[in-house]
Amino acid sequence: MNKQTNFDLVLFGATGDLAMRKLLPCLYQAHVAGLLHPEGRILGVSRSELDTGGFLEKVETHSKIHIKQNFSDEQWASFTKRIQYLTVDVTRPEQFDALAETVKARKETDNVVIYLSTAPKFFAPACEALAKVGLNAPNVRIVLEKPLGTDLKSSQEINTDVARYFKEEQIYRIDHYLGKESLQNLLALRFANVVFEPLWNNKYVKSVQLTIAEQLGVEERGEFYDITGALRDMVQNHLMQMLCMTAMEAPKSLDADDVRDEKMKVIKSLKPLTSADVDANVVRGQYTADKGMNGYLQELNVPSESRTETYVAAKAEIDNERWKGVPFYLRTGKRMAGKVAEIVLNFKDLDNHIYENSAAAPNRLVIELQPTESVRLYTQVKTPGAGNKVEPTALAVDMGQAIEGRRAEAYERLLLDVINGKLALFNRRDELEAAWEWVMPIMENWENSPVPPHGYAAHSWGPEAARELLARNGDKWHEEQ
Ligand code: BG6
Repeated sequence: MNKQTNFDLVLFGATGDLAMRKLLPCLYQAHVAGLLHPEGRILGVSRSELDTGGFLEKVETHSKIHIKQNFSDEQWASFTKRIQYLTVDVTRPEQFDALAETVKARKETDNVVIYLSTAPKFFAPACEALAKVGLNAPNVRIVLEKPLGTDLKSSQEINTDVARYFKEEQIYRIDHYLGKESLQNLLALRFANVVFEPLWNNKYVKSVQLTIAEQLGVEERGEFYDITGALRDMVQNHLMQMLCMTAMEAPKSLDADDVRDEKMKVIKSLKPLTSADVDANVVRGQYTADKGMNGYLQELNVPSESRTETYVAAKAEIDNERWKGVPFYLRTGKRMAGKVAEIVLNFKDLDNHIYENSAAAPNRLVIELQPTESVRLYTQVKTPGAGNKVEPTALAVDMGQAIEGRRAEAYERLLLDVINGKLALFNRRDELEAAWEWVMPIMENWENSPVPPHGYAAHSWGPEAARELLARNGDKWHEEQ
């Protein structure tokens, strides 16, 4: 194993939901797996007036419950020894002196990771205050949690502000979908095998569907969600990354910039949307009460006249040689009938059918990212007996069963990559801004549109308009195929 990096991880927003639910439990898993330097330190920071003991009590009640495996009291006790706490209000630069002193007091640190798990409006003031106390030295890395801004302009502003104090190679912009083992496996499937790539283009693929469906509603996040909506929360980032990984050309290597250059080319090749395209090809929805569940408008902290979308379906087109003419359908929604993230490639039909019913179900490749991680290639298999009938049957691999080994959660992988200075699974500035550029016409159209979001019943597969969007091209959403 490589020499482990001795780190200081400064976690702003340490008392927040993400830190408690994901970041600390993932660090615990890395600790148990022996992947953290024995002296690596976690410095929780927030404006709450607490000492380390008080913070650890919070961690005990709000974070420990999210550890779903490998728990032992002994490991937990040794993990929490890494944790210290400091009160720092990002809007009060004078409070950063104590932070700098604490960090600099430890001479043996190889690098310092500063994770801003805060609202994006605090990114610039935090970076400025960090720079003033010298916490932007070359051994400091800064992690920016999504959403990075609320539109192209605010995202550019944040990036410009952060760039005043940190170089691009010090900046780790998180999209946790990139940390998912299953999404990385998509690249291996495509680029470590010979069989898929020749078919991966407009000669053989009729349409592509990318879905992230959630069964949960907005829960207690109404306040955040209502000013965000599904387009900013999921499409601009997670779905866009899935699209890039599905459509990109083979990178020269798996090095950060080789991968990011190829993803960038995909985003740049997306056909820009006019307002008329948005009317025709983008559907926004909002869940309504059903099956004993609240509608979005009845959720906590959601204004009763809100038009915020909890569902988006869009048809995107990639204007390049490989994909011209192939619709890429993106969709995401809360309170849908199932929880699934998947990529579906629908292949074109055969020109000539010599079996009785082979036209009924052309080949389809389904890459399920969650809840299970699997790849299923639907092929036609002859049904036994004298007839000439075939039946679609999946050649299926469940990755969890097929390959042994611990499958780390996305945030664990990403935290380890930051600590070890690996940038490949993080977004570069130009990628992120290009993604905002593509979604901007949608946001602008919706702001000015008199048409409210389409309603869809809680725990359904979304509005009828989304079904019609595909029907126009002779396509169906995956659950109807
Ligand atoms: C987050 C969104 O980025 O991703 C949430 O803010 C969403 O609204 C979550 O629920 C989905 O992530 P996952 O990994 O559970 O699919």
